[in-house]
Amino acid sequence: MNVRKLKILLALFSFILVYQNCGGDFNANGEGVVYASLSSCEAGTQALFESTFYPFTTQNCVACHTSAGPGQGDFADPDVASAYQAFVLLGATTVASYATNAGHAPPHTGPQNNAAMTPILSTWQTTTNCSSTGQSSGVIATSSQVMNLTTNGPNYGVGTAETISWNLATDVSGISGMIGTLQIQVYVDVHSISPGNNSYNYVFINPTIINNTASNIQVTGLHVWVNGTLAGTVTAYNDLNVVLPQNNTTTLLSAIGDPFIQAIAPTDTVSIYFDGLSNTTATATTGLPTN
Ligand code: HEC
Repeated sequence: MNVRKLKILLALFSFILVYQNCGGDFNANGEGVVYASLSSCEAGTQALFESTFYPFTTQNCVACHTSAGPGQGDFADPDVASAYQAFVLLGATTVASYATNAGHAPPHTGPQNNAAMTPILSTWQTTTNCSSTGQSSGVIATSSQVMNLTTNGPNYGVGTAETISWNLATDVSGISGMIGTLQIQVYVDVHSISPGNNSYNYVFINPTIINNTASNIQVTGLHVWVNGTLAGTVTAYNDLNVVLPQNNTTTLLSAIGDPFIQAIAPTDTVSIYFDGLSNTTATATTGLPTN
């Protein structure tokens, strides 16, 4: 199953999950809430896109990345609003890395585009308040944890997902007074491109918080980072805006799995960024899935 099909499937699932803030967020393709929100590092404007990426993509990617072309993502579309929409769904770092990847669509893509792409990406990231490491300033982030998954190990499929855990008191910067555990699961998915030619990617699933404080916790916007870079396609949790109950309650934030294409290395790390994570006197959200 390709990523696009999987994401459409995931989008359908997400409609069922009533606690999510659906807020009328639909992209141009009508694919729904999975794509809905952007991390603080990706929240640029269309005007910024028009002055940075768009001149590049309309020059170099237009042969395929329009509504009429075969490329997935219409970020070079003559209609700039559609192009911008497609661009933000993919994320700046993904588009930049495809642009400079000789294996993607030579001669249109490859290292010859580094000179053009480096200042474009840098302008995008600094204007959207992301440092060169890809981390936004002032963001609430966990420490990085090694995922230790391999493509030849027993880690295929959700049944064998690894659970990565963080201690809310010590492993998360930018918050204080919180006790409990944050977990997310990840597994290596394998899918066959052609017989004998497999492709692997990570799938993140089941973000969970065990809240041991005596107050409720408000969680907004959860973003997954791999090796210190935003995993731009993992958008399923970007829209979270929930209040978790107090006193040792385990809350599953979402049951949606979201894939991230990347060559698997056992040393790959994952960290979680939040738009907001705080103690609150607000009433706990009802209808959250629990486990
Ligand atoms: C000759 C046609 C062609 C050209 C030119 C081309 N692409 Fe692509 N691109 C594709 C096709 C086909 C796919 C879908 C299959 C794949 O992912 O390789 C794709 C996929 C992508 C994706 C992944 C989309 C997704 O949904 O995950 C990105 C990002 C991308 N291209 C970026 C670029 C950029 C940036 C350029 C220009 C510098 C470019 N491509 C030029 C054909 C092309």
